[in-house]
Amino acid sequence: MRNLTPQTITQAFADYAKNAPSARTRTLLVGLADHLHRFVRENRVTPAEWDAAIGALTRATAFTDDKRNEYILFSDLLGVSSLIDMVNAAKSGTPSSVLGPFHIEGAPELANGGDLWRGQVGEPLVVSGRVTDEAGTPAKGCVLALWQNAGNGLYAQQDKDQSPTNYHARLTVAPDGTFAFSTVRPVSYTVPDDGPAGDMLRALGRDAWRPAHLHMIIQAPGRAPLITEFFPDDDTYLDRDAVFGVRANLVLPFRRMSDRAALPAILAARDTLPMPVWSANLQLTLPNA
Ligand code: BEZ
Ligand code: FE
Repeated sequence: MRNLTPQTITQAFADYAKNAPSARTRTLLVGLADHLHRFVRENRVTPAEWDAAIGALTRATAFTDDKRNEYILFSDLLGVSSLIDMVNAAKSGTPSSVLGPFHIEGAPELANGGDLWRGQVGEPLVVSGRVTDEAGTPAKGCVLALWQNAGNGLYAQQDKDQSPTNYHARLTVAPDGTFAFSTVRPVSYTVPDDGPAGDMLRALGRDAWRPAHLHMIIQAPGRAPLITEFFPDDDTYLDRDAVFGVRANLVLPFRRMSDRAALPAILAARDTLPMPVWSANLQLTLPNA
């Protein structure tokens, strides 16, 4: 096509793609070009501004390796990871949320009632709950993948002083769907902000904090995994999570508990946890298939 104008270039892009082998890929790429072209026209983006954007993406490569992916961090901080999660989410059950970069496959098994805290830095937390389907039937055989940061705010992968699987575990719920474990109360932390994604936060006057959370993947036999996370209701950053992961039904009361006799009987550390402890109860509902 010749004699392109700012008004006709978008249609030209769509025409050039008429032989795309995949209709879905064509829809996505033509739609992306449509939005980008509109963005350039509406904002009269200058060459210097576009160079800055390309420069940020180029610099992202230097911050990306097998432990950190700056492109995913851009997606998280732009709200795109969270939006993709929300538009694909089940309409019922416990809400899903973002995965984040710290999940590991093959985490150690933790017996139901087990202790992840083991006297480490931070305040002990007892988590108990039950997994059912929407009809209230217990999710027999359901496995909970658990991960969180330590009391110093760091995930095991960020801290050479922690064992590589510290605060990472897989727990199989009891046949009645119940589970309990002791751990450390997670703390709010900042996402890595020393790269171009952090520059974007500063350009927006935003900060890099995530409210404290417990990550979980709920894997019931024969169902899709439910990726989610749970937040204490007293966290300072609930309403400005850098990665937009908070959902109202994922915010839980964390309460002080002083009565040892009221701790779940199954807890391995029931007799040794220093009281009072924090406690949280999770009633997890698997969405209708
Ligand atoms: C996290 O929750 O672990 C996380 C999520 C997105 C970016 C960085 C960290
Ligand atoms: Fe996290």
